[in-house]
Amino acid sequence: MGNRKMQTGWFLAAALALAALCVLGLGQCGSREQRAEKNSIRLGILLYRGDDTFVGTLRQSLEEQAKRYEKETGIKVVLNIEDAKENQNTQNTQAERLISLGYDALCVNIVDRSMASTIIANAMAADVPVVFFNREPVEEDLQLWEKLYYVGADAKESAVLQGNLVVDKYQQDPSSIDLNGDGKVNYVLLEGETSHQDSLIRTEWSIQTLMDGGVPLEKLTGGIANWERNQASALTEQWLTQFPGEIELIISNNDDMALGALDAMERLNIMDKINVVGIDGTPAGMQALEEGALLGTVQSDRTEYAHAIFTIAAAMALEEKPEEKLTLSDGKYYWSRQVPVKRE
Ligand code: BGC
Repeated sequence: MGNRKMQTGWFLAAALALAALCVLGLGQCGSREQRAEKNSIRLGILLYRGDDTFVGTLRQSLEEQAKRYEKETGIKVVLNIEDAKENQNTQNTQAERLISLGYDALCVNIVDRSMASTIIANAMAADVPVVFFNREPVEEDLQLWEKLYYVGADAKESAVLQGNLVVDKYQQDPSSIDLNGDGKVNYVLLEGETSHQDSLIRTEWSIQTLMDGGVPLEKLTGGIANWERNQASALTEQWLTQFPGEIELIISNNDDMALGALDAMERLNIMDKINVVGIDGTPAGMQALEEGALLGTVQSDRTEYAHAIFTIAAAMALEEKPEEKLTLSDGKYYWSRQVPVKRE
């Protein structure tokens, strides 16, 4: 009897000590383990801008992944999706709140890729892993901790695939690209945000690929439309008026801006066969392609993209090893597949 009393006393002391450690934030007693035992995980999804078309398709695919995962594993998934409306301070506060609520992992579409250190510092302090996606933090930030990952589509690859769509068509029939047959292809360029890694790399490699492929390029003008359909539409309208009948090719860093260019052509009732190419393969982009309005695009496999983000986050949330679930480059990066799609 005395022994039982001693045992009970010992357990009570141990439990109290454990609780004290929890209060001090020092013990392995966080809600994360409890939820893992309870077979449920909570993931925070932080978007740079909720109304970005491509990011919206990823959001939708992430929700589908979560449902599939619940069905397959019986583990319940809570997704908390937040929109930073292009404000890094707002996103930092959203991250802080989800971390303090005990979320198991964050999936972050960072607003400003050079400003990831605040979110990283908070996540590290609370041992909450982070999967960045689509907007790649600078390398030194990603190297700050082993529980940081990045999922994206390789920008150079997208650009080379985009450039080759035009090169192939030009090589088959130069007059389908050099519309007036004067031996040069007059192009305009629609660029994404200046601070986004994809804009700079896509622009550089699309043009390089066209030149390497022997397309005689002549740049009329170019401008930044921040990935947005409306901004691209306004810019293109201006260029169409400034260079009447001269534009033969519109190269766009993404589909939404390519669609904006098509909107402007339609508005001005321009029936010229100007070729327009995009990147992403969004549903609206694919539809424009099927209707023959877009020459080509490079389609991201958004199911695979979202699967990678989700798989890494869920594995980390359950204290499993992401590298055992999928193949990572340099232990941190996952590059999602993309394929060129053309009109014919
Ligand atoms: C996509 C764009 C998107 C941007 C947002 C790019 O990779 O191609 O469509 O607006 O990411 O970060």
